[in-house]
Amino acid sequence: MLDALKFFLFVILLLVTIMLNQHVTSKRSAELDLELLWRIQDTKGGKRCRQLVPHEMGNNELPLVAVFVIQNQTVPSGVYSALEQSMIIGSLLEDYNDYNTSWVGETDWIYRTNLSCLAEDYRYVLLTFHGVDTFASVYLGEKLLGVTDNMFVRYRYDVKQLCDGETRELRLQFRSPVIEARERAKGRALPIVPICPPDVYHGQCHVNLIRKMQASFSWDWGLAAPSMGIWKPVRLEYYSSALIRDLTVVISEIEVNGSEQWTIAVGVYLETGLASAQLKGVLTFKIIGVPLVVHESEQTLTVTNETNEHGELLIKHGLTVARDAVERWWPNGYGKQTLYSLYVRWEDAAVNSVKMANPDTMISEKVIRIGFRTVLLSQERTTDGLMFYFKVNDVPIFAKGSNWIPSSVLPERSYDANYVKFLLYAARDVHMNMLRVWGGGLYESDHFYRMADELGLLIWHDLMFACSMYPSDSDFLRTVQEEVRQNVRRIQHHPSVAVWATNNENEVALRQNWYKTEANYSAYYTQYVELYVRTVLPTVEANDPWRTVLLSSPSNGDLSLKERYIATNPQDPRYGDVHYYNYFLDGWNAAQYRGGRFVSEYGFQSFPAFTSWPEARSYRPTELSKLIEHRQHSPLRNVPILDMINFNLPLPSDPSAEGYWPELIYLSQLSQAMIVKTETEVYRARRLEHGTMGALYWQLNDVWIAPSWSSIEYGGTFKLLHVWLRDIFAPEHLVAFINERRQLEVVAVRDTLGTAPELWDVEIRIHRYGSFRVVERMRMDKIEVPPNTVVLVKHWDVYGHLANQGLHPADHLVLLYAYRHPQAGQQHQSLVPPQMIAQNFALLDKLKNIRAAQRVQPTVAINVVSAVCSERNNLTSVSLEVSVSVPALFVYLQLTPENSTLKQCQFSRNGFIQFQPVRIVQLTCVDPGCRNKIQARDITVRTVNELLVR
Ligand SMILES: *[C@@H]1O[C@H](CO)[C@@H](O)[C@H](O)[C@H]1NC(C)=O
Ligand SMILES: *[C@@H]1O[C@H](CO)[C@@H](O)[C@H](O)[C@H]1NC(C)=O
Ligand SMILES: *[C@@H]1O[C@H](CO)[C@@H](O)[C@H](O)[C@H]1NC(C)=O
Ligand SMILES: *[C@@H]1O[C@H](CO)[C@@H](O)[C@H](O)[C@H]1NC(C)=O
Ligand SMILES: *[C@@H]1O[C@H](CO)[C@@H](O)[C@H](O)[C@H]1NC(C)=O
Repeated sequence: MLDALKFFLFVILLLVTIMLNQHVTSKRSAELDLELLWRIQDTKGGKRCRQLVPHEMGNNELPLVAVFVIQNQTVPSGVYSALEQSMIIGSLLEDYNDYNTSWVGETDWIYRTNLSCLAEDYRYVLLTFHGVDTFASVYLGEKLLGVTDNMFVRYRYDVKQLCDGETRELRLQFRSPVIEARERAKGRALPIVPICPPDVYHGQCHVNLIRKMQASFSWDWGLAAPSMGIWKPVRLEYYSSALIRDLTVVISEIEVNGSEQWTIAVGVYLETGLASAQLKGVLTFKIIGVPLVVHESEQTLTVTNETNEHGELLIKHGLTVARDAVERWWPNGYGKQTLYSLYVRWEDAAVNSVKMANPDTMISEKVIRIGFRTVLLSQERTTDGLMFYFKVNDVPIFAKGSNWIPSSVLPERSYDANYVKFLLYAARDVHMNMLRVWGGGLYESDHFYRMADELGLLIWHDLMFACSMYPSDSDFLRTVQEEVRQNVRRIQHHPSVAVWATNNENEVALRQNWYKTEANYSAYYTQYVELYVRTVLPTVEANDPWRTVLLSSPSNGDLSLKERYIATNPQDPRYGDVHYYNYFLDGWNAAQYRGGRFVSEYGFQSFPAFTSWPEARSYRPTELSKLIEHRQHSPLRNVPILDMINFNLPLPSDPSAEGYWPELIYLSQLSQAMIVKTETEVYRARRLEHGTMGALYWQLNDVWIAPSWSSIEYGGTFKLLHVWLRDIFAPEHLVAFINERRQLEVVAVRDTLGTAPELWDVEIRIHRYGSFRVVERMRMDKIEVPPNTVVLVKHWDVYGHLANQGLHPADHLVLLYAYRHPQAGQQHQSLVPPQMIAQNFALLDKLKNIRAAQRVQPTVAINVVSAVCSERNNLTSVSLEVSVSVPALFVYLQLTPENSTLKQCQFSRNGFIQFQPVRIVQLTCVDPGCRNKIQARDITVRTVNELLVR
């Protein structure tokens, strides 16, 4: 009787046999995913069982005691996920389990499965691990294939001799990364600092000594989960001539004899196993649906050469297409994201020989999606420094977006393509055009970059070094070089990738002595130069001549190089990019923001929704306080969040009161949204004055339910900030704030392209908080707003104006509206009224200063107007009518039905100011099987008014 494992092996054997014996025309690929069932076990039984272990075991010895055994694991896999699924540990992301399961990362684990392959007719048979996390000895049967020590590197093993039809055990013996990092720290003359994260992180030490996701030992927004496992596919690669591993492209515009063309310099990376071999054959190139200019000579290339000692050969080949034969690729908001398939095929010369039994094994094919666009990081001189902005297809782009951290703290879950897709759509839908893949995470999955290409999200790509010093000994540099080479080649062809930066905040950390490096500055400086300037930078440049490589973020761009790589002030607003955080000044006050040329990080913390905490229903308020305290890794604790609320709003005071957390959470999200809104809008408005051309707030996503800077909670719930971003980042926007001269400054912002200025009417209304009636209305008609720029609409002494009329600023706020006139030449141009394109508000004083007479409490009524659920996509969509008796401030709607199976619910508007009696809000949710009926009573409403009247 066949058990499942044997059946699996049988299928694989069958597949290999089919490949071997028949001409498989549909699938020439010589890569086969090994979908084996693995068994995972510990080798020491965990910390709590250590007394059972008679002696420490060497790496090669099999364990005497295994306490935990998990069967039937598929790849990608990690030990935390596996232990969770088999209910040996509770959910890592709930309660205190991050802390209580720390023994998992301190234990050694073994992955084992049986492998049988039969491939004697192939010249090369390789067992390829695309990602092993991190330290493992790999055995097939009794043979040690090799050891792994870098989770970002692909490891290949020659298994031809062992592919003989016999069944052998494939075994990965993992060593604890926590213990390995500790070992590596021993005996160093110069400590690699920081040695440990701050105590409040509940993290592990020395992560900078190992090439593993740096955030997996804990971060200020994330838990320690020092995982082990096989986090990417394992493949059997078998072929007889060569395998196309990667394709790279450099696409540029040229003019030849007056004809405009795109040239595509293609790099084809061929592999012949692990050693040098002679290659003779033909490469064929096609761009599907696009004619090549010089068809005959460009379509094929005859190759006669030899791979290097690692079995690699790079072939370069040029293609040209007429400029008007293709459409350009544009970032989100500027045009379409047209992509083309580039097909490359390797065919060995032996294919044509009559004696050849299996010609398909001599063929390798690969298709990538490419985009025709140019990207230039422009740093031209200005009166006070250098500009720093991206030009795409010659159009200056104001970069709007966020910072991306891994979609899960467990790297194997970054393969959850649905969640990645959800997050990237959420970015695209609020008008982002850039994400920064931050240096403490991962080189992401191919799926991530493909989605970014399709959605027009430019990628600022850090290499994976963050907030630390790093070693520069030769073994470390060697593995880093391999890591950079492999990942840059894999990612390089994606049109979305705009720039590389070799590290996150390591320059500023060294300059500003974050980790007490001053006494040994020159030694640390030497290490810095050795790693980034002499190793990472040239490796990226050698593999990607298409892009600019920055050394650090923040940095001073071109000036950093003149400043010998460590600038006097890497945060100089006149050069490069800056990261800006201020937890002490009132973040709602626009006057404090100076920005810089490109603000690649800024932001503020808030708490996830009350209903998102799995513990919320079972914990008492003080228990929840303790849990939130545990997950608040900032050494400043919750103080900045509370301070910012307290500056502006009534702060709930009794942490043991039942309603404390729901109320504080609401206020924290409102405060975060106000801070990021204010800051972002100032940066957009200062495009001409400060030369600011980028605003990437920290951070898009999260890895658990915890206080953090994210706009989207772990799991996909939007915080208020994310709902607001649709306006904050709108391509046509009207911004108003009180500037440093106490004037109301109103700015029209237009990112859209076009040939002519648009005509906008701008209306400014002054309202009293307690009444729907407008106090005063002012209109500025037919303001010329040219494409892709900003226009100052008005500087206004609003306080003087109110004083003249005996009005008190604390009782009033400003509402603003922009209307666009139909373009000249449009039909019935004079008959069509201007269309409203933007709305905004500006506060004239702190909300807590509103005086008693204007503190009104609206009754808010919610009505379900219509509800439809489509069984086709399991999406339910509900129209809600929100009625208020008097103006309502920051109406916060939350769906709180008991026992529902609804997921990823989103309100089209939330946290809004309502100065009209009725408005409509859409609610959409994923509703598997359309089983839920959403009713008005499932929706909880909060307003700031109810806090003000208390
Ligand atoms: C593993 O899977 C097979 C077949 O799917 C099943 O028969 C067996 O019980 C599983 N083992 C465990 C421990 O779940
Ligand atoms: C988890 O850790 C917390 C805090 O140390 C402790 O109070 C709790 O009892 C632990 N729970 C388990 C299941 O070990
Ligand atoms: C073979 O490849 C090497 C390395 O890429 C290159 O320098 C050499 O010119 C190539 N030889 C031929 C005959 O193309
Ligand atoms: C929700 O589930 C709990 C426990 O199963 C049950 O006691 C309660 O009545 C349910 N509530 C509703 C509204 O169905
Ligand atoms: C909708 O949900 C049901 C129930 O969970 C599920 O069986 C079905 O596959 C889902 N349909 C789609 C299109 O996702």
